[in-house]
Amino acid sequence: MIEVKGFSFTYPTASRPALHDIGFEVGPHELCAVVGGSGAGKSTLAGVVSGTIPHLTGGSAEGLVQVNGRDLADTPLSGLVGEVGLVMQNPFNQISGARFSVREEIAFGLENMGVPRDEMAARVDTVLRDLGLTKVRDRSPYELSGGQQQLLAIGSVLVMRPAVMVLDEPTSQLDAAGSALVFEALGTLREQGVTTLLIEHRMERLARAADHVLVLHGSTIVAKGSPGEVLADERLEEWGVAPLRYTVAARRAAARGLWPGARPLPVTLDAAAEGFGATVAHLDRGDRR
Ligand SMILES: Nc1ncnc2c1ncn2[C@@H]1O[C@H](COP(=O)(O)OP(=O)(O)OP(=O)(O)O)[C@@H](O)[C@H]1O
Ligand SMILES: [Mg+2]
Repeated sequence: MIEVKGFSFTYPTASRPALHDIGFEVGPHELCAVVGGSGAGKSTLAGVVSGTIPHLTGGSAEGLVQVNGRDLADTPLSGLVGEVGLVMQNPFNQISGARFSVREEIAFGLENMGVPRDEMAARVDTVLRDLGLTKVRDRSPYELSGGQQQLLAIGSVLVMRPAVMVLDEPTSQLDAAGSALVFEALGTLREQGVTTLLIEHRMERLARAADHVLVLHGSTIVAKGSPGEVLADERLEEWGVAPLRYTVAARRAAARGLWPGARPLPVTLDAAAEGFGATVAHLDRGDRR
């Protein structure tokens, strides 16, 4: 699980904090999504929870960050291997450069962990299959498309089976089919008890997949709650996050008295269809009277 309390961080050369007084918790089996505008501090938060910040960046940090009960301030990065996995925003940065094929690249982390050969091969094959990379397994990582590199970066973390996964915009270069594979893999991890922190801009998928959503704005958390509460908040746009079209449609309808009064604004297609269905049924009854 992830526990962050009263945490602030300033980069070495910066004059103001990139994160200010952050607090939240993510339990096992939970997927917490992070949204926010550009520069809000999302990647910084990903770095903090995976231990790379401030261990690799330097800078000044205060407050508490714990992963599975371990205080990251006192844990060297090497102690987090296999415990926390980070999928970075730019997949190109994640390729080791030390391996010649996709298959070897995915196996790289396991080799370093000393996993037995047979088990390693089985785990690598499963990840290749789950992420649709089997057909490119013998290619060089550098010959892949941006989307395939992104899947490779995710695969090389997934294969380690970390207890906590942090993913920074893992579907930014993927089409709908690639994103579906990633979200399916995340769903499986969640069932296995993995704690997931996911920075993502595909709001429709988030609304269905996340247990909680955090909004980062101006270096701090301005909202946290269920996807229904947070993504339907009327301040979402002020926070630099584009609202879902279902919510926008229902809000416009509500302004004209065409959304059932007590019903929360929808963040999924199903909830929108139900709400508009209820409005139509209500209008029908009025006509018949
Ligand atoms: N290495 C660094 N040194 C100094 N300042 C940095 C560094 N990395 C990021 N920042 C600053 O910290 C703030 C937060 O950046 P961060 O990359 O975390 O935002 P983000 O929400 O991930 O943005 P994006 O949506 O563009 O990925 C920004 O003001 C950024 O300019
Ligand atoms: Mg970022």
